[in-house]
Parts: sequence; C-alpha cells; structure tokens
Amino acid sequence: MSKRKPLRIGMIGYGFMGRAHSNAYNRVNNFFDLEYEPVLQAVCARDEAKAKAFADTWGYASVETDWRKLIERKDIDAVDICVPNNLHHDMAIAAAKAGKMILCEKPLSMNTAEGQEMVDAVEKAGVRNTVWYNYRRVPAVSLAKQLIDEGRLGRIFHYRANFLQDWTISADLPQGGAGLWRIDAKAAGSGVTGDLLAHCIDTALWLNGPIKTVTAMTETFIKERKHTESGKVEPVGIDDACAFLCRFANGSLAIFESTRYARGHKALYTFEINGADASIAWDLHDLHRLSYFDHRDDSIVRGWRSVHVTDGDMPYMDRWWVPGLQIGYEHSFVHQVADFLDGLGKNKPTSPTFREALETQKVCDAVLASAKSGRWVDVG
Ligand SMILES: NC(=O)c1ccc[n+]([C@@H]2O[C@H](COP(=O)([O-])OP(=O)(O)OC[C@H]3O[C@@H](n4cnc5c(N)ncnc54)[C@H](O)[C@@H]3O)[C@@H](O)[C@H]2O)c1
Repeated sequence: MSKRKPLRIGMIGYGFMGRAHSNAYNRVNNFFDLEYEPVLQAVCARDEAKAKAFADTWGYASVETDWRKLIERKDIDAVDICVPNNLHHDMAIAAAKAGKMILCEKPLSMNTAEGQEMVDAVEKAGVRNTVWYNYRRVPAVSLAKQLIDEGRLGRIFHYRANFLQDWTISADLPQGGAGLWRIDAKAAGSGVTGDLLAHCIDTALWLNGPIKTVTAMTETFIKERKHTESGKVEPVGIDDACAFLCRFANGSLAIFESTRYARGHKALYTFEINGADASIAWDLHDLHRLSYFDHRDDSIVRGWRSVHVTDGDMPYMDRWWVPGLQIGYEHSFVHQVADFLDGLGKNKPTSPTFREALETQKVCDAVLASAKSGRWVDVG
C-alpha cells in the first residue's frame, strides 16, 4: 500500500494530450520520490463508450460525459483540461469556482481577455494552477535555462526560433471536428500563432525574459475549406503561417517563424540564442542534445559541441537511467507532473502558472494585432 497522499485527477478530453498526461500520471511515482500520488479518478468525454475504452486502457476508475458534472464531483481534487482551446476558459473558471486545482493545456486561452478572467478566477479561488508548456521540462531545455542563469552566455544579443510543420498543405483537408479543430478559428482561436508559436514564446520568455514589442506578418494560404460539422465550404479564419520580429526587454533582438506549410517538416521546433561569450541551440527532433559554443575555449579546440543530456547532474536525469541513455518527448510531461506534485507538497507554485502563461497570450495577441495593422505593437 502506498503511503503517499492521493491527488485525485479528473481529466477532460482523451485525445493526444489526454494520452500524454495519463502516461505521465501513471509513471511519475515510479521515478520520482514524492509525497503525493496521482489517482486516476475519472475521465470525461462526450462519447461514453469511447471514454470507457480509454478509462480501461489507462486505468481511470470512472467516466463522465458532461464536464460540468466532473468538475462538481466531490471526489476530484484536480481538473486536467485537455480539450480544444475554446473550452479552456469556461472549464477553468468552473473548476476554480468549485475549488479544484487546475492543470490546463496550452495555450491558456483564446486571447488575453479570456486568459485574464481565468487568472482572476484561480487567484480569487486560491487554487493551484499550471499550464502544460511542457518543452520547458525537456532536460536539454532546462539545461539551457541553467546555463543562461549562470551567466555563461554573457550579454544576449539574439534569439531565433522556428516551429515548422507541413500537415495542412492539401486544400482538400476540411476544417473543424475531431483532429481538425486546429484549422477552425472558432475552436482554436488562431492558427500557428496560438498553437505552435505559443510554445516558442513561452520558452523564450522563460529563457530570455519579457518581450517588449513585435512586428508580424501572417498568411492564410488556403482561404476556404469544407467545415466538418456544417458540411459547407467556409472561410478559413486561422493564420497558416506567421513570422515576427521582436525586441526583448534585455535589449536582444529576435525572429520567430511558424508554418504548417514547410514541406518535409513534421514538428521542427528549434531555437538558438547568441550571447557575447557563448551560444546555445536546441532542436526538438534531437531533443536530448543541446548544442553549445563557448568563445572562451582555446581557439584550437573551439567549436560547437553537442552535449548529450543524459548525465545525472543534468536537469531531471538523476531520476532516469544511467549516463548515455536518453529519454524522450513523453518524459517532459512526467516532469511537469512531478514538479506539480512537488510544489503541492512544498506549497510552492508550479511554473508556468496561469498568470505566467498569460504573458505568452499577450505576446500572441500583439503578434496577431501587428499582422493585421502592419505596424509595430507593444506587448500589452
Ligand atoms: N503541450 C503540448 O505540447 C500540446 C500538444 C498538443 C495539444 N496541446 C493542447 O492540448 C489541447 C488538446 O489538444 P489535443 O491535441 O489533445 O486534441 P485532440 O483533438 O487529440 O483531443 C481533444 C479531446 O477533447 C475532447 N473534447 C472536445 N470537446 C469536448 C467537450 N465538450 N467535453 C469533453 N471533451 C471534449 C475530444 O473528444 C478529444 O478527446 C489543446 O488545447 C492543444 O492546444 C498541447
């Protein structure tokens, strides 16, 4: 019998993230020594038979088909929101009012105004909250943060990030409905800006501090698509591609690009940061490595090194295998759950909180406003 205290999870949505989070809840106590333990109390989805099948596969004790009922249940401590972006706001506010802790998928909200209401709700209710910007917890990205905080890069001049995909190039792809809600502005809020650049922005704010001002361009390459729900051809309201320049508060300049039209790229998230003394670079396709260049090295051995982030003194790695053996994508979610449970035990917030994730929302809104106006926009 476990001596750990239970944290009873009610998860809403059982798609991609539902699986990633369930895996993390199931694994976390095998690898991390924590006071708390997630208990998979209930999963909620509209289709009961599918929800039951999911519950059986992942070990949930019960199912609900109405998210409001799940949130009202007395035997749920924490609500995990794994549904399309347009549902985050109402679910999070209802969960806060019911006194539940909340783990919400990114982006926090459809826009800053909604996000602000969510921040107000969790802070008024005094409930623990976090947003699943999981890339922060890829050990190589956490190591990048450590190197920057140690001052190894010196003054930072440049930040550049990309998030490139190619899955929406076909004009025959419909918008809306299961799997395709990302192309429907009513469900997604925006296109690559809120979906992909939100990740890049969250990482950038964490590593390099606040963004002051942005100038952006967006494009919707395919202007109309059949809507899965209405069956009619409807205008496409999302940005298919977005590129923006920005200035950080620390004086550095940055360039960000995201698209779902970069043929050959499936999920190419990369960033590079150039400082006076050193540079770092990271690539999601090779996520267990961090590239590092240090100008202070002797010139005859100076060059980019590829650090294999597997040693026990590197972030999170003492919990896994032995040096030289790497971990992958799913572990970033295990780390986020571990940090959430650790924060619960120590009564410390788990970053990014809703308030911290709201900063990403503000940058996304400024980017979209700039693309519309063609002008530089200050981050509000
Ligand atoms: N952190 C990450 O890297 C990451 C990756 C992918 C998605 N996401 C975010 O996670 C969220 C979900 O994305 P996904 O890829 O898992 O989507 P998905 O389409 O795979 O799953 C969405 C789930 O929501 C359910 N759902 C929709 N409406 C519902 C309702 N009214 N009540 C209950 N369930 C409902 C669907 O049945 C489905 O199970 C989005 O906000 C997305 O931006 C984050």
